[in-house]
Amino acid sequence: MKDQVFPHRHLLGIEGLTPIEINHLLDLSERYIAVNRSSKKTNESLKGRTIINLFFENSTRTRTSFELAALRLGANVINMQVETSSVAKGETLIDTAVTLNAMHPDVLAVRHSDSGAVKLLADKVNCGVVNGGDGSHEHPTQALLDALTIRRRKGRLSGLIVAICGDVLHSRVARSNFYLLLTMGARVRIIAPKTLIPSGVNRLGVEVFTDMSKGLKDADIVMMLRVQNERMKGSFIPSVREYFRFFGLDRQKLAQAKPDALIMHPGPMNRGTEIDSDVADDFERSAIREQVELGVAVRMAVLEVLAKNNMAFTSAGAGK
Ligand code: NCD
Repeated sequence: MKDQVFPHRHLLGIEGLTPIEINHLLDLSERYIAVNRSSKKTNESLKGRTIINLFFENSTRTRTSFELAALRLGANVINMQVETSSVAKGETLIDTAVTLNAMHPDVLAVRHSDSGAVKLLADKVNCGVVNGGDGSHEHPTQALLDALTIRRRKGRLSGLIVAICGDVLHSRVARSNFYLLLTMGARVRIIAPKTLIPSGVNRLGVEVFTDMSKGLKDADIVMMLRVQNERMKGSFIPSVREYFRFFGLDRQKLAQAKPDALIMHPGPMNRGTEIDSDVADDFERSAIREQVELGVAVRMAVLEVLAKNNMAFTSAGAGK
C-alpha cells in the first residue's frame, strides 16, 4: 500500500509539494534521529530491498548519507561512481537508467550536473527516483534537512525570517529552500551581488538585497551558500578578498541578525570566502554539524516512503 500522505513515486523536487506532505516527511524523519543516536542504528524496514546511488557529480555528504540511510534501514546498497568526464551526456544517461532498471532496484538516488537530468531519467525507469541534486535546479533532501534543523531549533518554520546569502544563481539548495520555506509560511530574503541573483527570482515571493547589513537585519536564520566556481562560466565575483569583505559572514555582519539567529551552510564550506571560521565553528550559533546529522534521518524517511510506494506502483502494474 502506498503512503497515504505522500503517495508519489519519486521525489524530484520540493516545487509542488503541499505543507501537509512536507510536514509528513519531516515528522517521519524525526523518528530516525533517535535511532541514529543509539548504539544499534538498525531498523529492518527495507530488508531485502535494493537502493542504487548513481552520482554523476562529486559528493561527500549527500552520497554518504544516502548510503548510510539505506544501510541503517537494512537495504542492499550499490554505489555507482560515474566518471563525469567519460560520460557522453543524454544517451549515456538514458542507457545507464535502462540498464540499472533491468536489475529491479527499488529506489535510485541520482545526482547530475544538468538541471532536469534526474527527471529525464525518472521517466525511463519503473522504480522510485530521488533527486540528490540536478544542476542548479533542485536538491529536495537538502531543503528537507534544512527545514528539520530549523524546526527543531526554532520550534516552527512559519513566520521566521530566513536570509539566504551568496551564490544564489547557481544554487539548487537555495531553489529548493525557496519552495519549501515559502510553502511553509516563512519569509525568505536573498542577499547576493547583482551578478549572482537569478533573474525573476522576486516573482517567487522572495525579497532581494545586495547589502548584507540590510538583508540580515532581524533575520532568524542566516543560511550561507558556497561560491560554486565549477558552475561559473566567466567571472561573477571580483576576487575572493573583495567577496568576503562584502558578502562573507563574520561576527560584525552577523550582529545585524537577531541575537539568537542560527547559522547554516549546506557544505562544503569555503572558509574565508563566504564564511569566517570563527562563526562557522561557533557551535552555540552554528547548526552546520546538525544539518549533516539530520541529513541521514531525512534520507531514511524519504527512502522508506519511496521504497514502500514503489512496491505498490509495481504490483499495481502502473510502472512503465
Ligand atoms: C550542495 C550541493 O551539492 O548542491 N552540497 C550538498 O549537497 N551538501 C551545495 C554545494 O555544493 O555548494
